[in-house]
Amino acid sequence: LNNNQSGVTFFIFGATGDLAKRKLYPAIYSLFREGKLNERFTVIGLARRHRSREEFQNDVYQAIQEFARYKIDQDDNWESFVQHFEYMSLNTNDLNAFYELNQLTESLEQRFDIKGNRLFYLALAPQLFGQVANHLRDGGLLNSSGWHRLVIEKPFGYDLQSAEELNAQIREVFEEEEIYRIDHYLGKEMIQNIEVIRFANAFFEPLWNNKYIANIQITLSETVGVGDRGGYYENSGALRDMAQNHMLQMVAMMAMEPPSRMESEDIRDEKVKVLRSIRSYSDTQEVGEHVVRAQYTEGVLNDKTVHAYRDEDSVSKTSNTETFFAAELYVDNFRWAGVPFYVRTGKRLPSKATEVVVEFKNIPENVYFAKTNQLEPNLLVFRVNPQEGIYIKFNAKKPGGKSMIIPVAMDFCQSCEVGLNTPEAYERLVLDAMRGDSTYFTRWDEVASAWKYIDSISNAWSQNTNDLQFYEAGSWGPEGMIQLLQKKGFKWWPVH
Ligand code: BG6
Repeated sequence: LNNNQSGVTFFIFGATGDLAKRKLYPAIYSLFREGKLNERFTVIGLARRHRSREEFQNDVYQAIQEFARYKIDQDDNWESFVQHFEYMSLNTNDLNAFYELNQLTESLEQRFDIKGNRLFYLALAPQLFGQVANHLRDGGLLNSSGWHRLVIEKPFGYDLQSAEELNAQIREVFEEEEIYRIDHYLGKEMIQNIEVIRFANAFFEPLWNNKYIANIQITLSETVGVGDRGGYYENSGALRDMAQNHMLQMVAMMAMEPPSRMESEDIRDEKVKVLRSIRSYSDTQEVGEHVVRAQYTEGVLNDKTVHAYRDEDSVSKTSNTETFFAAELYVDNFRWAGVPFYVRTGKRLPSKATEVVVEFKNIPENVYFAKTNQLEPNLLVFRVNPQEGIYIKFNAKKPGGKSMIIPVAMDFCQSCEVGLNTPEAYERLVLDAMRGDSTYFTRWDEVASAWKYIDSISNAWSQNTNDLQFYEAGSWGPEGMIQLLQKKGFKWWPVH
């Protein structure tokens, strides 16, 4: 799998943007530091803005110092890294610029002995994907002898129809196998760990079904507001920004059947079956019962007053965009029939956390348990962020007490281990794309199935705007979030 042997050229479209600075340059640097990237690589930064090679290299330096796991230190040979970075100002409308880019690439490939492998990373607005793909082809960039891969960021469409159109545009030029759709949650250590914990442990998999599991809760909470992304977020909201991708991908990882092989297509086949089995809501009433949307108002978070969503930059004063989304969803298959999956995500919540809680059904009451014991359910918690680990809650005898039962916990904190500096999601994903491993990228049929479910919500919302609730910034969300579970006698387990 290691195509790295014959080198690679990274084309970073959107080279002066936020994603490139926060995630991509730091990821490339970490790979370099860890020896996962040999000398045979080059990075070509592309953006409209004029930048000299030196200015660009300086941007890369700043980005690494600010955001990377490894800092550039005294004895580090920065020169040997940064000499691989080149910049070209490029207007994506201009086909001639692509011819020129091809020439530049050929000369760099010669210099670094790269065998024509080209990885095109589009950290760009999706409206530009189609045009860039066409110009890559027409400009001759896909004629080199090695492989060609397209890495694209979300949002992948606005609904199923627009996603199909976007996909068709890209597919005119690239094969599905050449397209790597990023969902950076799939690059996270603990998300990848879900399948290992599930499929490599005798004491979880036999219980992993509707006989023993009462419900599954997934929380993706954030303290940040929309910051300077108001323009994007107004059209996306929590539903499209987090639920369509990260959240449904997590549902798929939790609910999928064991794949017959641990190979990319086998795993994605199992995930897509889950996504296809998610029950869409059929009308506004069903959406009203199972889905909650809300928006933050002014409030206090970490001792600071933060303003309402409607007062953020580039946000309409009468905006109905949701910054909070919660839903009860069902995976309609044999294993999961009747088990609710509760998902929630929001901005301006009290803490940054990503957690998955599996709540088990209580065992039947029997004589052993005096009526005085209020049995707590067993919980298995995957902590994805900020700590990485697993937490299990179970019942045990209270020491000294006579048949008193209390909940106790076992807590495995993976990220607490001394000296453990786990790779960032983007590092893993960039490396995977370079090696041609698409396991943790979303395949087209996954995207399409996810949109079907999401569209059933957004269609209902567009017919009824009265159900938008409000929550104070710094609170855990609106009332409706609690009621969603109360109806079934459940409650949200607090995140750690
Ligand atoms: C992105 C969303 O995909 O994920 C952002 O667009 C969100 O709105 C981010 O803040 C959260 O990612 P992470 O890795 O910080 O949990």
